[in-house]
Amino acid sequence: MSEEKLIKLDMGQLRANDTADARPTVCLGIESSCDETSAAIVDSNRNILAHIIYSQIPEHQKYGGVVPELAARAHILAIDEVIRQTLERANMTISDIDVVAATAGPGLIGGVLVGWMAATGIAQATGKPLVAVNHLEGHALVPRLCAASANDTSAGASVDFPYLLMLASGGHCQILLVRGVGKYELIGQTLDDSAGEAFDKVSKMLGLGYPGGPIVDRRATLGNPRAFDFPRPLTDKPGCDFSFSGIKTAARTFLAKYAAPYGDEFINDFCASFQAAVVDCITNRLSHAMKSQAVRDAAPKTLVVAGGVAKNSAIRAAMEKLANDNGMLFAAPPMNLCTDNGAMIAWAGLENYQIGNIVREPVAPRPRWPLTEL
Ligand code: KG4
Ligand code: ZN
Repeated sequence: MSEEKLIKLDMGQLRANDTADARPTVCLGIESSCDETSAAIVDSNRNILAHIIYSQIPEHQKYGGVVPELAARAHILAIDEVIRQTLERANMTISDIDVVAATAGPGLIGGVLVGWMAATGIAQATGKPLVAVNHLEGHALVPRLCAASANDTSAGASVDFPYLLMLASGGHCQILLVRGVGKYELIGQTLDDSAGEAFDKVSKMLGLGYPGGPIVDRRATLGNPRAFDFPRPLTDKPGCDFSFSGIKTAARTFLAKYAAPYGDEFINDFCASFQAAVVDCITNRLSHAMKSQAVRDAAPKTLVVAGGVAKNSAIRAAMEKLANDNGMLFAAPPMNLCTDNGAMIAWAGLENYQIGNIVREPVAPRPRWPLTEL
């Protein structure tokens, strides 16, 4: 689905795929695990009927990263209004909703609690079924709601199980075999930092601001990827695990040789060289994953990237090429569904509801909740 079409759907103007006979199931999803307060209404025909993302980034920018206490307070202040506006945009009341879903972890626990309690309150007051969504599963399943290849050729196509997933966000960096809803097999993961963290830290070192990913991505398009010789940790080793701390240390060592403030050309070259190293690590580890026994046995047709780092243009392009070279399809969520958002939680809520995975007894939100523990 293209960005343009998504915006139209966001405005609640059309329900492109609705069939006349069967009324689709409608899910309200709530996300509050980091620095976005978001809600969305999604239906089982893959329509996003309304979607509001209230980003707290401006509130955290001056601290160079997310401050958990400030985030929790901002979620409290925003959550009711975000939910109210989402219903209004969809031209719905709560009685039109079939299922309520919210992130129950992993994430910053103060924020998770705010969204989870809001969802629990709505479900209890209305008697609607409630789904406790794993935030990572939201990222992992959203390509099934709507995916686009890097050059948009498969826009609107769904992604079938099993698929090979590169999940790269601010807190996680994992290669997973997605066999079905709630069925994840870990193929590889970072031994230290996540890819998103590496982008954020390099941006901070250069004095470019937070979040670093989009800024470094933009600068990298203007620079020379061969200007600085960054290491590619573990790429000479077998296996599918990542390590980004060596790249980060190399960045610090390079920068120690030059005095700030850095010129534009220097920054662009630095970002391009750093990003090229991250891209090489990701493609190397994914190509090992494709050759692993578990992946060969499962024979996934599609290579998928998800999480905030999936917004990165170079990573999307390199992964699409890798998929093509290996006879696989490639899919990525549209840009606005890569970083944290309510639509991915609503969709994961819907998919869990469809297999009967609803809350039957009180659930305690979890700061840590690996996908392999679903
Ligand atoms: O998934 P997400 O919104 O939050 C977590 O669940 O962690 O991911 C946020 C991360 C941040 O580290 C941000 O710098 C990174 O995604 N990011 C990017 C880009 N856009 C966001 N990294 C690389 N390139 C981008 N264009
Ligand atoms: Zn996330």
